[in-house]
Amino acid sequence: MGPGRALALCGAGAPLALSPARTASWGRRSSAPRARAPGGPRFYRAALCTELQRPLLIGEAAARPLRPRQVRVGVHFCGVNFADILACRGQYQEKQPLPFTPGMEFSGVVLETGENVSIVKEGDRVICASGSQAMADECIIDQKDLWQIPEGVPFQEAAALPVSYGTAFLALEHRACTKPGETVLVTAAAGATGLAMIDVASHVFQAKVIAAAGSDDKCRLALQRGAAASVNYSQVDLKEEVKKLTDGRGVDVAIDMVGGDVFLKALRSLTWEGRIVTVGFSGGSIPSIPANLLLLKNVSALGVYWGRYKEQDFSVFSRSLMSALRHTQEGRIQPHIGAVFKLEEVNEAFCHVTQRKSTGKVVISLK
Ligand SMILES: NC(=O)c1ccc[n+]([C@@H]2O[C@H](COP(=O)([O-])OP(=O)(O)OC[C@H]3O[C@@H](n4cnc5c(N)ncnc54)[C@H](OP(=O)(O)O)[C@@H]3O)[C@@H](O)[C@H]2O)c1
Repeated sequence: MGPGRALALCGAGAPLALSPARTASWGRRSSAPRARAPGGPRFYRAALCTELQRPLLIGEAAARPLRPRQVRVGVHFCGVNFADILACRGQYQEKQPLPFTPGMEFSGVVLETGENVSIVKEGDRVICASGSQAMADECIIDQKDLWQIPEGVPFQEAAALPVSYGTAFLALEHRACTKPGETVLVTAAAGATGLAMIDVASHVFQAKVIAAAGSDDKCRLALQRGAAASVNYSQVDLKEEVKKLTDGRGVDVAIDMVGGDVFLKALRSLTWEGRIVTVGFSGGSIPSIPANLLLLKNVSALGVYWGRYKEQDFSVFSRSLMSALRHTQEGRIQPHIGAVFKLEEVNEAFCHVTQRKSTGKVVISLK
């Protein structure tokens, strides 16, 4: 296979060729970067979405020079997020022009710093919460998107923190104002965000968590990771079970990652002055809220969009990440890594998530 071509690596689809316009920086498929020609550009591996709804390609990107305040990071692990999959389907709220490299969080080591970089130096261990491009051997990032990994926190765990744990701190603390002793219902509880919510709610905020998930195995895992009780919502009615588990009172806080009917049942499970936070719609349907339900029990419906805080309120965004890093270092919380894939297996990693087989965070290893 010569330069300018790349293969679809899994799933349906015949080998795809990159168009000439895209071969300026993207070359052939390979499992290892090609040797650098004398005086020529250096290449590194990267996953590439060239066409929406199609398998990703593994191509080569030409390394480019850094601009002021930019940092080149060698990626160790990259988290796989539902949002990456939605972006590659063209269904994410923030659309990216094709072709693009997905991946919004990673851990790695600073390889090089541009002019006016003051936050990090070469050799520092960092995590990044960026818009995209982390599924690659290296990444060029603005220094403001990097946070130092504290001593003792491994790269793999660090990569699992930004999106899931950042969202968990933001939803539970900043939005729902969760207090010690309160009862928190978490849906899709064995997913990456779900397990992060359980970890933070029970081990940081000392709340009592009811985990709701779609299988008995997932419920068991949620209990092992800190939930006090569980409900398999594919078998029993969520609202009725929560009612039984809370002696008819209902929960103070509900955190919903699923949407549709699950969201509405979680809303109906709230107690007086309860708060529900909508985080995502992994079930695929966006519910409408009957306003009378808010009125009857004086409950609040809130939303959280973690990434948006980076532009709107950076200090809140940064605090959510710093909290995740600090509590991990202190051993209070620990992300659950459900599966590790190689970069060449990125399509399998995506399938693992969309087929509802994953638990906790799925990561791509670049090392
Ligand atoms: N707003 C934000 O800032 C923010 C931040 C992070 C994540 N999110 C969103 O939160 C949701 C969960 O993210 P995640 O990273 O935790 O994902 P995940 O690890 O893949 O978990 C998603 C879970 O959703 C449940 N689910 C229900 N119906 C599903 C379906 N039709 N297809 C796939 N899964 C289905 C599954 O659990 P069961 O089998 O137990 O039902 C699955 O394990 C996503 O919508 C994501 O975009 C939003």
